[in-house]
Amino acid sequence: MTPLDDLKAELERFGEDNDRGTGDRPRRMLNITRDTGEFLSVLVRATAARRVLEVGTSNGYSTLWLAEAARAIGGHVTTVEFQEWKADLAALNFERAGLHEAITQVLGDAGALLQRTPDAAFDLVFLDSERTEYPGWWPDLRRVLRPGGLLVVDNATSHVEEMAPFAALLAADAGFTTSLVPVGKGELLAVKAGA
Ligand SMILES: C[S@@+](CC[C@H](N)C(=O)[O-])C[C@H]1O[C@@H](n2cnc3c(N)ncnc32)[C@H](O)[C@@H]1O
Repeated sequence: MTPLDDLKAELERFGEDNDRGTGDRPRRMLNITRDTGEFLSVLVRATAARRVLEVGTSNGYSTLWLAEAARAIGGHVTTVEFQEWKADLAALNFERAGLHEAITQVLGDAGALLQRTPDAAFDLVFLDSERTEYPGWWPDLRRVLRPGGLLVVDNATSHVEEMAPFAALLAADAGFTTSLVPVGKGELLAVKAGA
């Protein structure tokens, strides 16, 4: 076990204990599952995604998986969170992991960040945030992905009804090819045409 493995295991226990203890959604960590982390790590490496955007940091568990993989290929992760106390927890975890130099944290609203992001700025976007916002964010999400870039959306099987409007937008877009992968809470993959 490396120190990073130890930290991931610690955060898995922390997230489970914390979320079991509160029904208040903003207080929950809502971390991805370990197998989703492994899947994200493979996706970043297999697609050589050096410019990664994560929407929804929480305390940074999923960011550790993304940043570990991105750093291994000379890449970098930008991650956005609007709750300051969660971003502060994440910052501590990034320092502890020694991954802070591979991560840029943005404190604020993801929609606003997407609006000010240039076209084709990211190779891979991991979307794990407020699902009702996704359809409204779609024009910018679409724009900030480079041709050939990959969108990965969590909770595609755990929250089918909430995800339905966004999944329908992706399915109807001729510029994207999609696949639903039954890992963790369900990962909806959409790759942009034109690489
Ligand atoms: C499911 S959690 C993210 C979990 C994290 N990806 C992980 O697996 O460790 C979703 C996070 O998105 C944040 N969030 C929700 N709406 C947001 C918005 N409009 N802008 C920025 N962050 C937002 C929430 O505060 C919450 O921490």
